Amino acid sequence: MLRSLVAKPHSSQCFIFNLSQKLLHGNGAAQFRATRAFTPRSVAGVSPPSKAIVYEEHGQPDAVTKLVEFPGVEVKENDVCVKMLCAPINPSDINRIQGVYPVRPELPAVGGYEGVGEVYSVGSAVTSLSPGDWVIPSPPSFGTWQTYIVKDQSVWHKIDKGVPMEYSATITVNPLTALLMLEDGVTLSSGTALSAIPILYIILFWDAIVQNGATSMVGQCVIQLAKSRGIRSINIIRDRAGVDEVKETLKNLGADHVFTENELEVKNVKSLLNEIPEPALGFNCVGGNAASLVLKFLRQGGTMVTYGGMSKRPVTVPTSAFIFKELSLRGFWLQKWLSTEKAVESRRMIDKLLGLVHEGKLKYNMELAPFSDFNTSLDKALGKFGSQPKQVIKF
Ligand SMILES: NC(=O)c1ccc[n+]([C@@H]2O[C@H](COP(=O)([O-])OP(=O)(O)OC[C@H]3O[C@@H](n4cnc5c(N)ncnc54)[C@H](OP(=O)(O)O)[C@@H]3O)[C@@H](O)[C@H]2O)c1
Repeated sequence: MLRSLVAKPHSSQCFIFNLSQKLLHGNGAAQFRATRAFTPRSVAGVSPPSKAIVYEEHGQPDAVTKLVEFPGVEVKENDVCVKMLCAPINPSDINRIQGVYPVRPELPAVGGYEGVGEVYSVGSAVTSLSPGDWVIPSPPSFGTWQTYIVKDQSVWHKIDKGVPMEYSATITVNPLTALLMLEDGVTLSSGTALSAIPILYIILFWDAIVQNGATSMVGQCVIQLAKSRGIRSINIIRDRAGVDEVKETLKNLGADHVFTENELEVKNVKSLLNEIPEPALGFNCVGGNAASLVLKFLRQGGTMVTYGGMSKRPVTVPTSAFIFKELSLRGFWLQKWLSTEKAVESRRMIDKLLGLVHEGKLKYNMELAPFSDFNTSLDKALGKFGSQPKQVIKF
């Protein structure tokens, strides 16, 4: 069940009306449009009413989010009105609501950052999109947890309808991160962009990676994208019930080794490996002990890239790792990458990733849940029921 049907503190029509003008037209600080007067008789097109998951203050997502219903808004000449099909709940969505993410929308805001929708109607000047097309916001943008969104045509990227909607909805934040980190890893090691390096060279140059958080969507993509390049993977997961099943799942995706953190409580972790090269590159999305384990596997002069901090524990590095092992530490942030000139490549990369999904070469665990069960999905994403697949809301 959803928590509330209207914004309780501000339930007057006037508030809902003004909020809808902002939120249905995009709700990032940079993407807020000035609220404009809406005169139904003077406009050609108006979006249908929308339902959205809204937060008016930062705090725990299960406490501060609520369902709000908005009347339709004007679809201007360059606008596209999209009926959302589905959108995931990612850790960064939770962090934005909590107010701990460095870039957050202005409040009040609609949750969500990526998703997929079907074009419902287009403004009079839009020629590149038509009703029925499937689109994703690309680069991703705030406010995807709502049933209808009206935004400028430039926001939307038309995608292949042959890919299951839950994959299209989730293709940007996590799979693109996995792809970029692997490609950046090559740049990092060789100083040369991936596109300039023959695949054979990559395989010879850097033939194994180690990562923690291997059950995450990013982790699952790293395993498969690495495998497809001939790069072997050492994967670290949390201790849990049903660990054998999880290991089997990751091995079926192409993982070479999967260890729980407890299994790595040995003097020499590398003694557990058979015929796998020492990795030059490690990925860390957990921090704490799980990050220290990644460091232990790295070869002399290796690099650990931190891209998440799921355990909320800091990364601690032994002095010897710097002096004697000459390890390097780096970070990766997709949102920063998307703000650089390299971002022009992102739509092509997304199409490539969707192509891999289409060919059955990229898959990951998800649970599609109806919008009416949003609160349960949110509780699962918050970890209240232990380890759960990625929650994807179906509108
Ligand atoms: N820097 C970037 O640009 C960027 C981009 C995308 C994602 N990320 C980050 O990457 C990480 C993974 O994102 P995702 O969407 O792929 O994850 P996800 O599919 O939602 O899965 C969550 C992952 O976090 C693990 N986890 C949850 N709580 C944990 C805890 N308290 N301690 C240790 N591990 C915990 C889960 O392990 P179990 O399976 O054991 O529950 C699972 O592997 C997140 O930190 C996210 O913010 C960063």
